[in-house]
Amino acid sequence: MELNSTLENTVTGRLLSCMGRRLYFPNGIIAQSAEAKISAHVANATIGMAFNRDKPLTLSAVTENMSTFKPDEVVVYAPTAGIEQVRNIWKASIIEKNPSVEGGRISLPAVVPGITAGISYTADLFLDEGQSVIVSEPCWDNYNLIFSERRGAEILTTPFFNSGPGLNMAAIGRTVRNAAKSGAVRIILNFPNNPSGYTPTKAEAEGLISLIREIAEEGADVLVICDDAYFGLYYEDDIYQESLFSRLSSLHERILAVKIDGPTKEEFVWGLRTAFLTFGSRGMEDRHYAALTKKLMGAIRSSVSCSNTSAQYLTIKTLTDKRTDPEKAKYRELLKERYLAIKQFVKNMPNHPILSPLPFNSGYFMSFKCNGINSEILRQELLSKHGIGTISLGEHFLRVAYSSVDKEKIPLMYRIIYNTAESLR
Ligand SMILES: Cc1ncc(COP(=O)(O)O)c(C=O)c1O
Repeated sequence: MELNSTLENTVTGRLLSCMGRRLYFPNGIIAQSAEAKISAHVANATIGMAFNRDKPLTLSAVTENMSTFKPDEVVVYAPTAGIEQVRNIWKASIIEKNPSVEGGRISLPAVVPGITAGISYTADLFLDEGQSVIVSEPCWDNYNLIFSERRGAEILTTPFFNSGPGLNMAAIGRTVRNAAKSGAVRIILNFPNNPSGYTPTKAEAEGLISLIREIAEEGADVLVICDDAYFGLYYEDDIYQESLFSRLSSLHERILAVKIDGPTKEEFVWGLRTAFLTFGSRGMEDRHYAALTKKLMGAIRSSVSCSNTSAQYLTIKTLTDKRTDPEKAKYRELLKERYLAIKQFVKNMPNHPILSPLPFNSGYFMSFKCNGINSEILRQELLSKHGIGTISLGEHFLRVAYSSVDKEKIPLMYRIIYNTAESLR
């Protein structure tokens, strides 16, 4: 409204499309991170990247190969759906990381410029104005911009967590069954989750899979978008360590599973803007996948035309380098140490009246539900008085990205977060 009113009575205001009028830049993660970059001199826990001692974690294959590219690995256009070799290598890596995937049943992954773009293209293909998509509450703030402001769709938020240790299966079940009454369900599942840092346990994963199977058996068509941005960063043994895509991709003719994943976070190359989009459905044959991929190529061609060439060659080099897996394991351990330090800290604050940690066991983040105080006020206090950068999501949730905070800083940072929250009551 603010932007539209500024532009009112100008040529731009008169020319804006409906989508143009809907679009805005939210005061969300990106804007709050920019503020923290200036003021978070003690600890900056806003960044959704993995840092150590102020430097991004980087794989050797990435740093070494960057300066060795030949011109045709950089300047020539890549095919619209990506370089064949990287698509095949990524498909093999999906199957290796997710043993339940039936390789013959999934499409050849298409290259898209980042997971964000993959989600946006999926919305272009499957979500019309006025249709609804089920999203976790809380969720990554960009879903709102993609589904609601771009596509004009309705977001059905579902409290994914209650005060217990895991997923709020009852609430998820209610929302999904209710949506199924319309004959079609569209849902996005993001695990490890941003902002909670939660991945379902094996039992919860079975529960989600059964729920989706049941509504499909009862006659609903189901689109499940698996946003697997943080795949592989698991810190507990009871976690379901495959993407839900594995089983969903061959579960039932009425289920279409879309896996959006990529090296941006899995290979620590956030800025390379390369990701993959893969389809899987029991009801689809190769000719269907070819047709659907052509449609996706239409979405790519009409927006970015094709993805970055050198990033795809770098991905090939990284995925075929023997050093990559052990280095990734080392970085995962580094993040796990931070996770364990936080888990210990919050364990010592049981039943805190103001800050309730949402369940967390994986990924980059953990979040607090703020009771009786406004999380945006807490964020501002932490930044302006204590030099600690965090992210507020709405009025109730405060996200801490420990992926970018050294382990040694964690006790101090959490003490300040708890003390500041208490001072606001
Ligand atoms: C849940 C989730 N999905 C997607 C993305 C974006 O991924 P990409 O940088 O590949 O667009 C992020 C973070 O930036 C995220 O948290």
